Amino acid sequence: MTFQEQQAAERAQDHIDSARLQDAIAALAAFGGRGDGGVSREALTGVDLAARRHLIERARALGCEVSTDDCANLFFRRAGSADLPPVLTGSHADTQPVGGKLDGAYGVLAGLEVIAALNDAGIRTPRPIEVVAWTNEEGSRFGPGAMGSSAFVDPACLPAYRDAVDGAGVRFGDALDAALAAAPDVPRRPMRQPMSACVELHIEQGPVLERAAVPLGVVTGIQSVRWYRVTCAGMMGHAGTTPMGERSDAMATAVAVAQQLYAFAATGSGAPAGTELRLTLGRWQVTPNSVNTIPGAVEFTIDARCVDEAVLERFEAALGEIAARQGGKVGGKVGFTCFFRRPPTLFPPAMLALVSQACERASAQAWLPAPLRLTSGAFHDAMYLAGHCPTAMIFVPSERGISHNAAEATAPHDLFLGAQALAYTVAALAHR
Ligand code: GLV
Ligand code: MN
Ligand code: MN
Repeated sequence: MTFQEQQAAERAQDHIDSARLQDAIAALAAFGGRGDGGVSREALTGVDLAARRHLIERARALGCEVSTDDCANLFFRRAGSADLPPVLTGSHADTQPVGGKLDGAYGVLAGLEVIAALNDAGIRTPRPIEVVAWTNEEGSRFGPGAMGSSAFVDPACLPAYRDAVDGAGVRFGDALDAALAAAPDVPRRPMRQPMSACVELHIEQGPVLERAAVPLGVVTGIQSVRWYRVTCAGMMGHAGTTPMGERSDAMATAVAVAQQLYAFAATGSGAPAGTELRLTLGRWQVTPNSVNTIPGAVEFTIDARCVDEAVLERFEAALGEIAARQGGKVGGKVGFTCFFRRPPTLFPPAMLALVSQACERASAQAWLPAPLRLTSGAFHDAMYLAGHCPTAMIFVPSERGISHNAAEATAPHDLFLGAQALAYTVAALAHR
């Protein structure tokens, strides 16, 4: 690292303002804020559009130029002294149906805090810096997840994404057009723009850092993920009159499939020591969903994750066997489709070295333990950016490892240290 690079990185880090960051987190959390302290702000809902407007105004107040693209990703640009590909940071502003204040929001707001810190320190960087708020990272309303970042990297994904529908039958494409129409003052730019590097700051969403009592994590990569939709067919019938032996009950079939999948995850996945297959059957739809009608159709989703891709291969084979076996039983047809798959992501060593340096300085100044290296259990937009430019991630602890829950929380001092590490990393990269 050159002397100039290091000096800018240290000064940027030392200008992060914890109170300003906390205020920004509280202000964004008001959009979709819940009585239990959580946030409900699913992608492209009315509250999400209001939150996006809030971010646009906030970024403009910091002197940023705002632009968007065909997937309504929002880019907040701080100009550089040279016309070079920017350094990218940020995350997403959408949440789970019941989410917290920090998942995604923290990365976007810490990115804007880095820009405020650079402004305060009077640092002019050779490269521009862009803070991004990616569209629909969560994937809960419209599947799959990380739509904005994947479409940015590979715009050919977008036409199929536009046909995704939410539970109420709204098309993603229509919601996207409405979001773009709601921001006529924001110029459109092409997708797939060159970036010199990308760094995403995020809460860990798991227990590793807190258990180790370490405030900062250098993320080495992201585990594999696959999402499936399973459909079980039966025949509707009267709950009181149809003899048990003469039913084709889609729920009975679905429960049997689910039990066999859980059993596979518990015993048969063969995950390497210290790792596991993580299985979630998170969304269920029952037709006709009536107390006194035998279910005629059940659809449920599977989220399967592991650091070892081979385990997910075995899981998919087992799913196929279970579906065929169960579907072979009287009238109990079972089908499944995979609608999201991503192999493991590994971040490059040079980026890990820079992030380590940034985290080491922030924790040492606070007299706290040195950063830990860990793999992300959650997926992030950074997994797509990793295929586009040198990419890295920084984690801060999550209290009790809780996330995708209204109770999601991180100590303000840890959030401050994370933003400091981000400032150092971004300022150094913007001088390269
Ligand atoms: C992101 O929200 C994930 O499910 O990992
Ligand atoms: Mn997230
Ligand atoms: Mn999330």
